[in-house]
Amino acid sequence: TISVDAAGTGAKIDDTMYGVFYEDINRAADGGLYAELVQNRSFEYRPADNAAYTPLTSWTVAGGARAAEDGGRLGERNRTYLSMDGGASVTNAGYNTGIAVEKGKRYAFSVWARAGRAAPLTVTLHDAGGELAEGRRVVARGGWAKYTATFTARRTSTTGRLTVAAARPAALDMVSLFPRDTYKGRENGLRKDLAEKIEALRPGFLRFPGGCLVNTGSHEGYDEASGWERRRSYQWKDTVGPVEERATNSNFWGYNQSYGLGYYEYFQFAEDIGAMPLPVVPALVTGCGQNRATDDPALLRRHIQDTLDLIEFANGPVSSEWGAKRAEMGHPEPFRLTHIGVGNEENLPKEFFARFQQFRTAIEAAHPGITVIANSGPDDAGTTFDEAWRLSRESGVDMVDEHYYNSPQWFLENNERYDGYDRGGPEVFLGEYASQGNTFGNALAEAAFMTGLERNADIVKLASYAPLLANKDYVQWQPDMIWFDNARSWGSANYETQKLFMTNVGDEVVPSTASATPTTSGPITGAVGLSTWATSAAYDDVRVTGSDGTALLSDDFSGGDGRWTKATGTGSWAVQDGAYVQSDEAAENTLVTAGDTAWQNYDLRVKATKKSG
Ligand code: AHR
Repeated sequence: TISVDAAGTGAKIDDTMYGVFYEDINRAADGGLYAELVQNRSFEYRPADNAAYTPLTSWTVAGGARAAEDGGRLGERNRTYLSMDGGASVTNAGYNTGIAVEKGKRYAFSVWARAGRAAPLTVTLHDAGGELAEGRRVVARGGWAKYTATFTARRTSTTGRLTVAAARPAALDMVSLFPRDTYKGRENGLRKDLAEKIEALRPGFLRFPGGCLVNTGSHEGYDEASGWERRRSYQWKDTVGPVEERATNSNFWGYNQSYGLGYYEYFQFAEDIGAMPLPVVPALVTGCGQNRATDDPALLRRHIQDTLDLIEFANGPVSSEWGAKRAEMGHPEPFRLTHIGVGNEENLPKEFFARFQQFRTAIEAAHPGITVIANSGPDDAGTTFDEAWRLSRESGVDMVDEHYYNSPQWFLENNERYDGYDRGGPEVFLGEYASQGNTFGNALAEAAFMTGLERNADIVKLASYAPLLANKDYVQWQPDMIWFDNARSWGSANYETQKLFMTNVGDEVVPSTASATPTTSGPITGAVGLSTWATSAAYDDVRVTGSDGTALLSDDFSGGDGRWTKATGTGSWAVQDGAYVQSDEAAENTLVTAGDTAWQNYDLRVKATKKSG
């Protein structure tokens, strides 16, 4: 029985409550959301990014061509280029299986080139079956300049290659191929299917650029002697301005990031999908298990200034230094930044907090309207989580970012987590959470948990499932919400749950109570291989029968241990915890007639009797 108090008042739910946590993990950016089709376009891959990398990763060379790093380079931050002899050619293999093109679609090629004498460059797009589009020719002459051409694909392919052949000696850099059909048709834009799947969630906010990506690595600056320092923490100024002037970098997840998708593009994307932008900056305490605090007051001052400059980049008038940069990049209007996160998962609360407070003081002084978000680290770090919360509470922090990745059972059992949170303390930004899996059961457990978030929307102000994206060929972390390969993308069951909640955000919680009397549910039919959920807390007697009526499993939970036991039938059943049952091979044999080799679908009937109360 559900009793609804229609006249009662519950928590107000902000439109921004549900958002997305975007991190460049699982190759979410290059080879993913960022629509560039050429991998290692600027020849900047280094062993420091990944031991397997060289400046020619993803390239094959025919004839005389080599990576060069000398005074003839394109720029100080774009240090390596390709030096080609006359008659040489280079071919890029793209990401994963190759360059994906679709019949009839147009593709924008560009290259920066330098040549002493006029050097014709022939550019072809092809796969093992031959040409994918009519070849193009540009003539490079003189100093570094950008040359462009457009291809129209004659065929669809996911194994394309891009070849540039030089008739005379030439230097190349920033060899690029983009679909013209990017999200909202933007130049240097985003892959349409992925961006549209994110947009379809109608996110209230977009947190970027991560996660562990933000805070790990060194926090030092540009090092003239060794080139742009690798393993540098994510610093927004590295990622804005003309793409050919952006330094590439290694990242925490073990690959190179081109920064072609940078802070300007993130702000633009947030605006395009109607989401509040929510950037996170490094706090000079390296998190994510590395746990090192940088003790350098001058460096800390620079990072704080960078953060103030970031706010100016987002919100400042075009007459300000960084507002002018934003306008130069194409967006004179402000991006309306209201929230900023400082740090991610530092498990050194005291050290983190000492630095956080300095960021906060400076930001609040210069930009009083901005909410500065602290973080508590993951809620599996023992006492550091509580300590971080204590420090935040004591100093009146506005909002704390907390993270957890737990079992579905945990999510079912912790629906009331926020009922007891101190209403006088900081608000909650649940910046990262997921039950450990992408099955329907996980999605259902998350949905159950989200009803608890919503009931507590007065204190849980922002919440985002994490991570958002995974390239199926570079999976470092799972589960993930949206999966993709070079040509396709698909939402997980968890995506559908998020979409349901995110596209149906209410205005206010209507108070309700529920009670139950013993009753028998109707049979639930599922195919073999699907799990059906019941919990010992909610059900008193659960039976699984084959469609022929054979009793296979039952449990009245009388033993109190919540474990299922085999009823009748042959074969054994692997029993996980109190609510999760999986058949093993032997048990499947009880359903499949010996000698039957054809795949068949078997119905299982799960009958659960609800526990009183
Ligand atoms: O979401 C994946 C990772 O989980 C994030 O980078 C980090 O913040 C958390 O530990």
